[in-house]
Amino acid sequence: MAIVNSLDQPDITMLIKNHWYAIEFGSVVADKPVAVAVHGHDLVLWRSKDGTVNAQSDLCVHRGGSLAGGTVISNCVQCPYHGWMYDSSGMCVSIPANREGLAIPKKARVDTYPCIERYGFVWVFLGDLAEDQRPPMPELEGLDLALDAKADGYRAVEGDFDWVANYDRVLENAVDISHTPFVHAGSFGNPDEPEIADFEIEELTIGDHLAVVTASVDLHPPVPSGIWAVIGKNKERKPVTTTTGFYPPNVSMLIVRLPLGEIRIFTAAVPRDESHTTSKFIMLRTFFTGGWADKDSIRRTLKIFNEDQPTVESQRPELLPFDLSAELHVKSDGIQLAYRRWRQAQLDKGWGLPTPTDEQARRSAAVIASPARISDPELANAWVFPTVEEMDT
Ligand code: FES
Ligand SMILES: [Fe+2]
Repeated sequence: MAIVNSLDQPDITMLIKNHWYAIEFGSVVADKPVAVAVHGHDLVLWRSKDGTVNAQSDLCVHRGGSLAGGTVISNCVQCPYHGWMYDSSGMCVSIPANREGLAIPKKARVDTYPCIERYGFVWVFLGDLAEDQRPPMPELEGLDLALDAKADGYRAVEGDFDWVANYDRVLENAVDISHTPFVHAGSFGNPDEPEIADFEIEELTIGDHLAVVTASVDLHPPVPSGIWAVIGKNKERKPVTTTTGFYPPNVSMLIVRLPLGEIRIFTAAVPRDESHTTSKFIMLRTFFTGGWADKDSIRRTLKIFNEDQPTVESQRPELLPFDLSAELHVKSDGIQLAYRRWRQAQLDKGWGLPTPTDEQARRSAAVIASPARISDPELANAWVFPTVEEMDT
């Protein structure tokens, strides 16, 4: 189905290539290949013997089989259709139907993307830039320490939430401060005090690259209910200092400093296709750090997403406009504007790749170009499937 957009906007959504995307939890990738759809492309994740995670195009070059339906064997991923085996560089090292001595064709290889497991997430570099030209991976403040089993003070839980919405809209919602009193009136928002004090936007760059954008504001908590009313009885209701922001391209962060302790939620908005997104969150808390409270932490985090869902899924146009003047912005929208400017800057560099529609994805086998397509001249003609750029020109 074509997506709705304003009349003067292109009817497409763009993957910003040449960035590190958090696309899955490391804990999900064990001894079997895992399928992950990103921006209309099927990827497969699998773990080598030494524990490193590999990210490859989930498209066997023989007959387009899905490697994710296969197995991990002899430090390779094996296609379930005719058993071709690909190593961690993407090279096919075994074609079982070939009699001994027959050479494996040079073109028997799949696109392989740089992949790092850190902060509990699997990060994949979607693009073809050489290593020394790549933007740095985001550094998620405090998360390394918190996920270290030896570190005291934090307890972490993780979870998923699926949206029928475009990823730009989902990411913007995660950093939107002024919707809290309205959309979250049933939890932490206070509809009686919706005014947002002026806040500073802090932008940190590393080299030429925007690393993180954050802002902190004091939000007025609602009158507590249930157990919170008992705990907070007779206590003065002080404003709750809340920090929100994003690490380009796809991770948002929320820190809420409650009287009881701190909550940090890091959320990777994984773009499945132009109209589906999965939020993968790691939520940390410094209070009630026993395992007994984990379920409740996940439930409370999902409640926030559930509150957002009807609003985000009904936004029109479904795609974020490219033109800043296509929607009206006010002062409290500063972080979303920083995101839109960042996105525009990437598009200006020529780093936008059109996301295939469902139909295009089913009918073609265009892949995101991996670094080996550029860096290894010997492999210039060693690819079976075209890249998205080649399809587009
Ligand atoms: S389709 Fe993968 S081995 Fe034939
Ligand atoms: Fe929200």
